Amino acid sequence: MNFKHFTRQLLHWYPQNKRDLPWRNTQNPYIIWLSEIILQQTRVAQGLPYFESFLEKYPTVQDLAKAPLDDVLRLWQGLGYYSRARNLHHCAIQVSDEFNGQFPDNYKDLLKLKGVGSYTAAAIASFAYREKVAVVDGNVFRVLARYFGVSEDISSPKGKKEFERLANELIPADQPDEFNQAIMEFGALQCTPKNPDCSSCPLQENCLAFQNDLIGELPVKKGK
Ligand code: ADE
Ligand code: SF4
Repeated sequence: MNFKHFTRQLLHWYPQNKRDLPWRNTQNPYIIWLSEIILQQTRVAQGLPYFESFLEKYPTVQDLAKAPLDDVLRLWQGLGYYSRARNLHHCAIQVSDEFNGQFPDNYKDLLKLKGVGSYTAAAIASFAYREKVAVVDGNVFRVLARYFGVSEDISSPKGKKEFERLANELIPADQPDEFNQAIMEFGALQCTPKNPDCSSCPLQENCLAFQNDLIGELPVKKGK
């Protein structure tokens, strides 16, 4: 397997191609959590102004916890999926009340928070605390499926586990945060769902999907 190649080239690609996004310049778990919840079903361009208004109005988790739910819902207006806003508020209160105003500092405990699943817990643990735990979202499925030629169904629990295992094997202990940002950014900018930019891709040489003309077939999603 081309494990070393993959990680080295990805970490080389990232600083040259990444977007400058505000939640990438911090290790503050509150700011990272806020950005990840907003970006869950929302594009970066749409989420960015909401992220900025939330942070301006509620600079700390305590500020958000103290706010009336109606104010939070009003600020959320236009983003949709209002359960996210309710969970956001609930979680802020939980951190304030049950965790002394401090976000848990590891993956396992982060999972106890309302609205925080494995993806968000991994994002906070790696970006804020540099814990070696891989994020696995749609971008990660796609990049790994294509590069390594993994044809497991990404909509099945067994498939998801397989990708999680692979991502956690690849993530380097000394740069877990950089690796996680890099693989998501690579999926968002280079190895896109439609028409990935293979001709300019530095991973092309070892990419199984490219070499075998399988880009249209991977990742496999059999559906619900
Ligand atoms: N989408 C979800 N999390 C993200 C992040 N950390 N950077 C860019 N886009 C994202
Ligand atoms: Fe993705 Fe194409 Fe690069 Fe392979 S060669 S990793 S399919 S962009």
